[in-house]
Amino acid sequence: MACSHGGVYSVDPKMVRLDCSSSVNPLGAPGKAVRAIERSAGELAPMYPDPECRDLKKGLARYLGVNTDQIAVGNGAAEIIYWFARLFAKRRVVIPAPTFCEYELASQKAGAVVTFVPLAVDFALDADAVIASAKGVDALFLCNPNNPTGMLATRAIKKVIEDVDNTTKIMLDECFIELADRQETLLKLVDRHDNLVVLRSLTKSFGMAGLRAGYSVSSPALAGQLSSLKVPWNVNGLAQAAGVAALADRRHVAKARALVKKERAFLYERLNRLESLVPVRSDANYLLLRLKSGDSTHFRDRLMKKTGVLVRDCSTFTGMGSQHVRIAVKTHKENMMLVKALEEMDNGKAR
Ligand SMILES: Cc1ncc(COP(=O)(O)O)c(C=O)c1O
Repeated sequence: MACSHGGVYSVDPKMVRLDCSSSVNPLGAPGKAVRAIERSAGELAPMYPDPECRDLKKGLARYLGVNTDQIAVGNGAAEIIYWFARLFAKRRVVIPAPTFCEYELASQKAGAVVTFVPLAVDFALDADAVIASAKGVDALFLCNPNNPTGMLATRAIKKVIEDVDNTTKIMLDECFIELADRQETLLKLVDRHDNLVVLRSLTKSFGMAGLRAGYSVSSPALAGQLSSLKVPWNVNGLAQAAGVAALADRRHVAKARALVKKERAFLYERLNRLESLVPVRSDANYLLLRLKSGDSTHFRDRLMKKTGVLVRDCSTFTGMGSQHVRIAVKTHKENMMLVKALEEMDNGKAR
């Protein structure tokens, strides 16, 4: 299965009136981060950035309550997935499915064979099945809350981390956790498990996808191994300055989390009235819609053409089938536009 993503560039950008296909902080980037860019662009543009991202690491250490030597900073979390795969995806890798496709692609590019462990019909993670499949493998990827399904599986994931042999390297992707209802990060497990890398990003939580700044937290030894693969100046100066400013604004994330919770309930309630689809319960800033008939690529294209609203066709997620699209939870005004567009698609059948 080809790995692909949402976002306006996944289609003809000119046709998109509202992008509900990529799921980032509905409030956008914090004003403080935008102002930091505006203030420092003239000074930073001609300068090489700090190749070690020292100020950003200090800000992250304070934000997370960890030490700076536990942090690796990448050009987005995506870069760190590829470092991890190059280092550890030697022969065999286990990935629950469906999930974010870059784990699979990075592992395959590194030469590993991927075994998928299917999620249950209700998208729950089967910890025992993952533990059994992970026996003797080089690497395991986990995602909490999972993309595209949106559910937290913290207890099952904790069990997997605790029971899997510590010769298996584990990447736990928590890129969406700061916008999830329950703040159930397993970050602190890196102190007890030196085979664990927790992946995070400023992309989703601080609405900074275009700037490209992601990071991981692990033992200092693993952080050093990951960072050893970076090209010099991998994170540009404006992203570093904006990141430092954003991390000082925790209220921005808290505000977004409260908005997501309220607006997701609104979307769920309104979309549950439609005849043609069923919303799936989610703990995250996005939710799946199961189409009762037709396929998701066709649905996405028709919705775009008719209304200019772009949703994420989930048929490109391994193991997902062709019955689901994913929508981002946005501001109330934008969510209303999405509801109207989906009601229109429902062919006037909304109750
Ligand atoms: C689960 C997950 N992890 C990581 C990423 C990549 O994040 P970044 O923008 O920081 O590279 C994405 C992007 O969609 C994602 O869905």
